[in-house]
Amino acid sequence: MVNSTPPDGFDHLYSDVVRETMDGSVYGSWRSIRDADAVSLSFGFPYPGSFPNQELLSAAEELFEAEADCALQYSGGEYAAGLPKIIADQARDRGIDCATSEIHLTNGATNAIDTVCQTFLDSGDTVFVESPTFMGALRLFRNYDVDISGFDVDEDGIVVDAVADELAKRQAAGETLPTLLYTIPNFHNPTGVTSSADRRERLLELAETYDFMILEDDPYGQLRYEGTEPPPIKALDETGRTIHVNTFSKTIAPGVRTGWAIAEAPIIEQFDRINAGGEPSFTRGLITSYAANGRLDQAIDDLCAGYRERRDQMVESLETRMPPGTTWNEPAGGFFMWVELPEGIDAAELLPDAIDAGVTYLPGSFFYHEAGGERHVRLSFSHASPSAIDEGIKALTDAVRTEISAAEADD
Ligand SMILES: Cc1ncc(COP(=O)(O)O)c(C=O)c1O
Repeated sequence: MVNSTPPDGFDHLYSDVVRETMDGSVYGSWRSIRDADAVSLSFGFPYPGSFPNQELLSAAEELFEAEADCALQYSGGEYAAGLPKIIADQARDRGIDCATSEIHLTNGATNAIDTVCQTFLDSGDTVFVESPTFMGALRLFRNYDVDISGFDVDEDGIVVDAVADELAKRQAAGETLPTLLYTIPNFHNPTGVTSSADRRERLLELAETYDFMILEDDPYGQLRYEGTEPPPIKALDETGRTIHVNTFSKTIAPGVRTGWAIAEAPIIEQFDRINAGGEPSFTRGLITSYAANGRLDQAIDDLCAGYRERRDQMVESLETRMPPGTTWNEPAGGFFMWVELPEGIDAAELLPDAIDAGVTYLPGSFFYHEAGGERHVRLSFSHASPSAIDEGIKALTDAVRTEISAAEADD
């Protein structure tokens, strides 16, 4: 190692955005959560048994047999080239009628969101988000030096009336209108809420009236455990204002790092142009090979059964164990429950005690751009086994009860 590193390291050479955001990250607190010896109800990780190891091994063999010379080449062979068609077919089944020229492949949904940001955002632009929202997306938006405005979420999704009021107010005052509105309409992260068809329609009307794009992030839409799906916003959109972002992270595995964006062809051309780094052609060929013979569709059915069981267990454990004053939603799909703790309990302050009691979660405040969510915890039922979920909720209950007793003793 060189021993003449400047005293402040290389901070002075960092970009303004890095210097402004480097201390403000919640990621430091993640380490204590990730490394804790406790039941993990914190991250949206799939459960280990959900990974199709054997099926991917067979799919890899089939791929190498068919394309020995090009499966590992820069752009791969016909298998890699076939992935957009698989995505278009899946999208069509969900009501999105798109050509393969309207699909841009990415390294996961995160990379798709980043590509949308690179394409649409300038410093000082405004982005509207749900409040709370996926903190990975907040982190990306902050990298673009934009103004972020959050809007409440109720049981029908983003409160569109509040969005409409804010847009009208800004227009009347000659203030900046948003370039993008980011929304997670199905089994929202972190609240688990699915937005109603009416709210989706109204967002599209607003996008049209006030000239902004809707960024629809939908990693959980296919993981529905009951009921029927409202049409994706992209399926309702007749004017091309929606960019639909999706991923195989939750339906195959996060490690395949493959996602996509669906948008009008001229927008896709810009995504193709701006997104550097080459394509993981092998992974793409592998997914095409895996999806053949209905393997992917079958896997999604199996995943729904596995997650439904975990969701049901979490609901039952919360019902039987949590003290009065605790409330929660019951999501019809996805990975998350959004739990409000009894009055007077701060979820971030409770976390070290909860870890000692044997459970980790993410405090609600992590999901807000500004203040909010102090009494909330996001619980993920995706990773732990049903029996571990019950253990985790028991530990959470113990921590909450101890906190209530301590508060009562102080009074
Ligand atoms: C709403 C939302 N968008 C995107 C992602 C990330 O997807 P990917 O792993 O494909 O980058 C997640 C994962 O946690 C998520 O919850």
